[in-house]
Amino acid sequence: MRRIPIEYAREGDILGKTLYNSSGGMLLCSGTKLTERIICKLKNYGFYTIYIKDKYTEREIEEIIKPEIMARIHALHEDLQEIIKNSNNGMKVDIKGVNKNVRDINEIVNEIIYETLFNKDVLLNLENISIYDDYTLTHSINMMLLSIVIANESGFNMEQIKKLAIGCIFHDIGKTFLPIEIINKAGKLTDEEYELVKCHSEKGYEFLTSYTDLEAVSRNIALSHHEREDGLGYPRGLKSDEIHKFSKVASICDVFDALTSDRPYRRALPLHEAMEYLLASGGSQFDINFVRTFYNSINIYTRGTLVLLSDGREGVVYETNNGFSTRPKVRIYGEGGKKVSPYVVDLMGLNNILIEKVVHKFSFDM
Ligand SMILES: [Fe+2]
Repeated sequence: MRRIPIEYAREGDILGKTLYNSSGGMLLCSGTKLTERIICKLKNYGFYTIYIKDKYTEREIEEIIKPEIMARIHALHEDLQEIIKNSNNGMKVDIKGVNKNVRDINEIVNEIIYETLFNKDVLLNLENISIYDDYTLTHSINMMLLSIVIANESGFNMEQIKKLAIGCIFHDIGKTFLPIEIINKAGKLTDEEYELVKCHSEKGYEFLTSYTDLEAVSRNIALSHHEREDGLGYPRGLKSDEIHKFSKVASICDVFDALTSDRPYRRALPLHEAMEYLLASGGSQFDINFVRTFYNSINIYTRGTLVLLSDGREGVVYETNNGFSTRPKVRIYGEGGKKVSPYVVDLMGLNNILIEKVVHKFSFDM
């Protein structure tokens, strides 16, 4: 099974992973044979990438967060947004209701933390992160999962991981205060719109401070996740040591997940390109030590990724070498554009060969 951009889907392909909407409702069951009509519908529905089963990649992909859990968080999240919208319209905020809601979300987050830390191998293969149609919530959850990886690898204790994780879930809650047209705008924002968007950090922080019992370090993530090491971030222009480590971790994961997600105005970047961006921005935008920890702890080329090697060979990532995410074992299917009998090469022992790029189809299969 592997993930492909939807325009590479063909009539007759078999859907590898069930597609859900954000309330946990099933849209299309895994195993469904795709037709032109279904592919067209999925495009209209807003899916940019899907999983298909194919002859090169036999593995199954396990979900990190089960649809039932996703449905529960989604319902709670919707309720909270409703409360905020009502308060925007002048209604009194039901503080008890908000706190109950936040506590329930916190409980689910703790469940997810235990599950993901037990199931570390699953988490390190980022493809298991689910695709849902509610971007804000999905993004917050993915960002939380990535933050758990960095926090765990950096030796944060369980209490710290929990506080970081819940802060990630609410990091963009301030966006609920902004006009929906700006949040969903497909094109570039005007200067005025951008200034307005920047207010989401403070608005979110104020809301969490006024109406919830969340601890200061968790609330602070909403306030400081757009600060930068060089002091050019917002809202306060804090510099390296002035930024709390939770916010440093959160900002890396925020950007990484945003870059690797499909958005209405741009397609997801492959994981290795997003990682290159993080490495290049380490020191100026991000804390380089946390970026390195992240780099060393995730698999950029997950099993089943189709790749072109620098010597022209084409193959499928067959096994990852832990800690060396750019040097996996690759099962070769083609040489110089011609199909060959499959064999495995281990890039760990071949330092002169690089993965040149990720492909979605082999040249000899076109
Ligand atoms: Fe944000």
